[in-house]
Amino acid sequence: MDIRKYLAEKAEIVNGGLKHLLVKEDEYPSSLHKAMHYSLFAGGKRIRPVLVLAAAEAVGGDPSVALHAACAFECVHTYSLIHDDLPAIDNDDLRRGRPTCHKAFGEATAILAGDALLTAAFDLVARTPAKDSSRVARVIQELARAAGSTGMIGGQMVDIESEGKEISFPVLEYIHIHKTGELILASVRSGAILGGADAMALEKIARYGKSVGLAFQIADDILDVEGATEVTGKPVGGDEKKGKATYPALMGLEESKKRARELVDMAVAAPDGFDSKADPLREIAGFIAARDK
Ligand code: IPE
Ligand code: IPE
Ligand code: MG
Ligand code: MG
Ligand code: MG
Repeated sequence: MDIRKYLAEKAEIVNGGLKHLLVKEDEYPSSLHKAMHYSLFAGGKRIRPVLVLAAAEAVGGDPSVALHAACAFECVHTYSLIHDDLPAIDNDDLRRGRPTCHKAFGEATAILAGDALLTAAFDLVARTPAKDSSRVARVIQELARAAGSTGMIGGQMVDIESEGKEISFPVLEYIHIHKTGELILASVRSGAILGGADAMALEKIARYGKSVGLAFQIADDILDVEGATEVTGKPVGGDEKKGKATYPALMGLEESKKRARELVDMAVAAPDGFDSKADPLREIAGFIAARDK
């Protein structure tokens, strides 16, 4: 299958969902809604929402029932990028090929735009038109856990605390699994839950999500060394300057690439027994490690 075509088609569906379901940018106070739209529609890859849809499809579900949740994961992700770029965190000026939210709108508006996107995500999931409302409640919990202090924010905390320090491998793994892996894991778990996965299928999807989630951040670290700003749309080389805890810093570029490939292999093998409906998931795993943006 042509995975780039699949990603582009699903990203279009997600973009349509976001436009349709989210508060409009001219709604009062428009300064806030403009900042939210500015960051949201700046051209992200939409990997997390596509994973939600692909996981629903992989377990034999109707992906359209997962569109609200897919959009919600993109809102949480975009909020995390806005806050990650703030002067108090990574202090970056470029994101998705444009000035970061705080550069374009000021710090106060960027903080509030992030807050509002996070909150909007839970509203979106709650509006899921699912017949089985217990599935929606489970997805709300998935999202809350993944985004919270024992998930993404915990990872961000340890990321900041580790700057400029020599850290051990377990701490590095903690950072990567939490700041990035957890939201990706919850994306596929949520898609699978809404698609009606049984416990065994959900377990396999979770195994896939764990491997892909960690591989995603390792690839991000590698792109910070070898990538090109014109392609990634964000600064390159910042991790080393800031003394960030990264795979290349701790184990070198070649070992990092090897680890990412191993994780992709594990991810591809995880949905064993699934039919061709899981092919997009398998292909996305490969795409994640080989991407140039
Ligand atoms: C970047 O995520 C931040 C990480 C968690 C590694 P993406 O690489 O998915 O960024 P966008 O959404 O395409 O801009
Ligand atoms: C970002 O990690 C993780 C989150 C936003 C939660 P990075 O700080 O490495 O992401 P980039 O490289 O700025 O996109
Ligand atoms: Mg960061
Ligand atoms: Mg950053
Ligand atoms: Mg990075």
